[in-house]
Amino acid sequence: MNDLYGSGAPAAPARKTTVPDIRARKRSGPPLAMITAYDFTMARLVDEAGADIVLVGDSLGMVVQGQANTLAVTVEEMCYHGRAVARGTHRAHLVGDMPFMSYQVSPARAVESAGRLVKEGAYESVKLEGGEDVAEHVGRIVRAGIPVMGHLGLLPQSVHALGGFRVQARTPDAAAKIVHDACALERAGVYAIVLEAVPPDVAATVTRSVEVPTIGIGAGAGCDGQVLVCTDLLGMSRGHAPRFAKCYAELGDAIVDAITRYVGDVRAGTFPGPEHAYKPNDDARATDVDGLGDHNVRH
Ligand code: KIV
Repeated sequence: MNDLYGSGAPAAPARKTTVPDIRARKRSGPPLAMITAYDFTMARLVDEAGADIVLVGDSLGMVVQGQANTLAVTVEEMCYHGRAVARGTHRAHLVGDMPFMSYQVSPARAVESAGRLVKEGAYESVKLEGGEDVAEHVGRIVRAGIPVMGHLGLLPQSVHALGGFRVQARTPDAAAKIVHDACALERAGVYAIVLEAVPPDVAATVTRSVEVPTIGIGAGAGCDGQVLVCTDLLGMSRGHAPRFAKCYAELGDAIVDAITRYVGDVRAGTFPGPEHAYKPNDDARATDVDGLGDHNVRH
């Protein structure tokens, strides 16, 4: 086995979390744990840690590309990241965001885009933003055999219409509209619904109103599951994590510290040391850096 650049060993065969498994958790628990990943390395770690669902969010526009919002993300980019994440995801269910304008235009366009995400991006289901207004689109995708996760509350793809990333459903009318939209999505066939940045009591009401699991982000503890962006959870957002995100590690600081020490070693001439060099009498295995045959590849 070669380990050039940490490509890694094949994982033991694992049972995939399916859409029926996710739906069943509404009744049987425990709460669903979903987390974003955008590349193979993070996906493999998230999968090893036992997350139920890996989301390639269009938050990759901000997290990976450094943009101000999600709007410029394309289907092609989602497919590129989806294929990489799929190679590291052996147990968790893999869902991918449908990018802005890949589904809003028409139900037919929505089916086409969802089909591309599954065929070219290796996703097992897709997520899209909106309520009753996209219910027909959801129904068409579901009837094509592609599971759909809904997304209500703060809809990042509507950032300009909302006037920024703001908490939603703060009036009784707006709260009632979210419940109405959740029911419309359920009738259209979604298998789960993300609730983003809504007051906890509204999220709890939505959760009681539908038979599919709700997955909250900034929506309190009354949902059937939770989702966080991986870089927020790992302390890599350099002061830009939202208030609702719990930071479970300070990897940003750890990475800066490690790279600072590496830079220092290179400049001081203390890296590489003799232990990092090949010797003429090493056996073949120790000197074999060319073979790349043992990737952990699923697609
Ligand atoms: O794009 C994303 O990461 C998301 C989550 C915040 C739910 O949609």
